[in-house]
Amino acid sequence: MTDFAQWIPQQTNDGSFTFFSEEFGEAFHSREGAKAEAFQKFATATDLATKAQQGSLRLLDVCYGLGYNTAAALELIWQINPSCQVEVYGLELDETVPRAAIAPPLIDSWSSEVQEILKAIALEHHCTTPRLTATVLIGDARYTIQSLSDSGFQAEAIFFDPFSPRRCPQLWTVEFFTQVARCLSPTGKLATYSRSASVRSAMIAAGLHIGTIPLLHSRASHEWSQGTVGSFGAQTLHPLSPMEQEHLQTRAAIPYRDPQLNDPAVVILERHHQEQQRSQRESTSSWRRRWGIH
Ligand SMILES: C[S@@+](CC[C@H](N)C(=O)[O-])C[C@H]1O[C@@H](n2cnc3c(N)ncnc32)[C@H](O)[C@@H]1O
Repeated sequence: MTDFAQWIPQQTNDGSFTFFSEEFGEAFHSREGAKAEAFQKFATATDLATKAQQGSLRLLDVCYGLGYNTAAALELIWQINPSCQVEVYGLELDETVPRAAIAPPLIDSWSSEVQEILKAIALEHHCTTPRLTATVLIGDARYTIQSLSDSGFQAEAIFFDPFSPRRCPQLWTVEFFTQVARCLSPTGKLATYSRSASVRSAMIAAGLHIGTIPLLHSRASHEWSQGTVGSFGAQTLHPLSPMEQEHLQTRAAIPYRDPQLNDPAVVILERHHQEQQRSQRESTSSWRRRWGIH
């Protein structure tokens, strides 16, 4: 657990701010833009602009952090349909993160209503307004997700935003995705920024169809996607390219495992490493050479 004072805002390329975690050795958002990421890879990728036309929506924000994914979703939904009733659950380990994120300048770029919501969530872990009920469950998401899925909560959109698989493998396992998928409605979508093959195969093993989040502009060969979307039906997903499909046949596609949902990260990484060593699949470097990925 971390100390409130360590959260020093860092500016990203779209002008919005993020934090850097010393514990996980990683920033909370992409350098390209924290706020842009919340809109593109989460709110837009889960079709919220269309879903907002419904009278009510349920959202699940896995790794709530600074609350940007929830904030972007609320801004988008109410811009389309001001009378949409929203219920949000957030899962977050460290309550100091949302608290540090309500200080200026971090919070300034959201509408005044969303600012008040972020403050209430940060201070009380709960917020009720005429068009919103929001609750953040503090603790290891591997445990809190179980009470949420046991309660029957099903979301139309799940924002799946842990630190990267190498840094936080415990939240990218087949077993954790299986719990999270229990909280996805039959017509819902789960979005993540990760395009890694191990993550994609864990999502498939958890019963989801997967699609890619296409790049907005063409980039270097090693940037083939902005992330992954999962759902129970394949119809409205962007299909993976042949290159991405072949990626799923390589050693990189061996998923992380955490049979009892309680192993430390080092144990999960070592189990994964051992399984890759034993595998007869094509190596990832040979797949990269074949597709000219540097
Ligand atoms: C990449 S950041 C999330 C950023 C966030 N979605 C946002 O928009 O600000 C990852 C978050 O996961 C949280 N976290 C790390 N391990 C966790 C765990 N086992 N359970 C729940 N949250 C965890 C961290 O405290 C951090 O806030």
